[in-house]
Amino acid sequence: MTTSTTRKSPTPLGSTRRWAEPGSRSAALFARAQGVLPGGNSRTTVHMAPYPPYAASGEGCWVTDVEGDRRLDCLNNYTALVHGHAHPAIVEAASRRLALGASFPMPTPEEIELAALLCERLPSAERVRFTNSGSEAVMIAVKGARAFTGRPRIAKFEGAYHGSYDYVEVSLASTPEAWGPLATPAATAYSRGTPQGVLDDVVVLPFNHVEHAVARIEREAGSLAAVVVDPVPNRVGLIPARRELLQALREVTRAHGIVLVFDEVITFRLGYHGAQGVFGVTPDVTTLGKIIGGGFPVGAVAGRADVMAVFDPTSGAPAAPHGGTFNANPVTMAAGLAAMQLLDEQAFARLDDLGAKLRASLDDCFQQAGVAGRVTGLGSLFRVHGTERELVDYRSARTTPEESARLGRVIRRLMEHGVLMSMTGLGCLSTAMGDAELESLVETFAAVLALETR
Ligand SMILES: Cc1ncc(COP(=O)(O)O)c(C=O)c1O
Repeated sequence: MTTSTTRKSPTPLGSTRRWAEPGSRSAALFARAQGVLPGGNSRTTVHMAPYPPYAASGEGCWVTDVEGDRRLDCLNNYTALVHGHAHPAIVEAASRRLALGASFPMPTPEEIELAALLCERLPSAERVRFTNSGSEAVMIAVKGARAFTGRPRIAKFEGAYHGSYDYVEVSLASTPEAWGPLATPAATAYSRGTPQGVLDDVVVLPFNHVEHAVARIEREAGSLAAVVVDPVPNRVGLIPARRELLQALREVTRAHGIVLVFDEVITFRLGYHGAQGVFGVTPDVTTLGKIIGGGFPVGAVAGRADVMAVFDPTSGAPAAPHGGTFNANPVTMAAGLAAMQLLDEQAFARLDDLGAKLRASLDDCFQQAGVAGRVTGLGSLFRVHGTERELVDYRSARTTPEESARLGRVIRRLMEHGVLMSMTGLGCLSTAMGDAELESLVETFAAVLALETR
């Protein structure tokens, strides 16, 4: 089999388009998948038209597909892998734990160690409960906030993603015809059949519009259990929150006894103390996921002891009972602990440095090529946009059909030339990457943009 790097290609990372050729292994797998999975798929996010390449293995910052083509992994399972693939320390920790049994109807010591690490690092964390995904963590945080406050409704920001859960999916994909006034965005359904009761119980806030957001929370405060906010929401364009927004949310929620929830499922990879450390604002509760499981399915709710006491079963039925067959699975806990221990302050400093350089270089590529585009993000996160507009909120970041088409072409060509990124333009770094890999990425990006100007 020829390897991708021996094939002639105009880009430094080589051609990686065998999956797209007729008769490829990926094509055959997709044909079989369509017979047993709806659309051949279990995860909407990884669908790619007409079909995606299938992964075979990963090592460090490289992923090899089933055709044998290798790509630089700039997506890291949608930001979940902060050390890339198969880091020896994580493989060792997970294998050692797995050999002792995969799961038990009893707690295991590992969950205490990972919870202790999170409490030590996260300013808002005094107690932790583990779940199996970030979606579940958000769901349990909302449930906990309702039990703590005795109120039914939540507030969230327009366009912000917090997982597959009806209440937090409200207004995730609002369109101009339905999104309503900026000061009071409409509550719109994401999937067909969403009950009206769900829409009625969600107050939608405009991201980065401090006065509008605060005024709306104040008007609705009597019925609000929680305000949920992601400090750097990817679907809103990976635009960092204005610090004043987070500070104002802190003040208004405290004044009205509302639980402030930071969704740090992605942003915990922004700093040793999470995004709350970066922004200097401490919520009541934080939801976590992705990196804290070392590549295994995971989620966690971490928060102030009095709020988290709603889950405490030691004095009879808790206010918010929380079960889950695989919660705090010991293999996940062992892998997560190994991953988090590797992610020390030095590792964050290096990721920050690489991230800042990469965002500047990619921005520069757009300028040099004369192609409309810009790059947002923070720390190890970046997102490529097909526009030069100023991006401040969901409405300004929402792409036009022309921008989507351009971005789609660019990402697809990157995929064909050795770079794996999200079709929406999201990318992230891992500690397995260094200057050499990022230089190759930038050269490939420049070569791909050059095709746009022909
Ligand atoms: C901010 C945020 N919250 C929650 C989730 C849901 O996490 P999971 O996919 O583990 O359910 C995601 C997933 O991407 C996310 O980005």
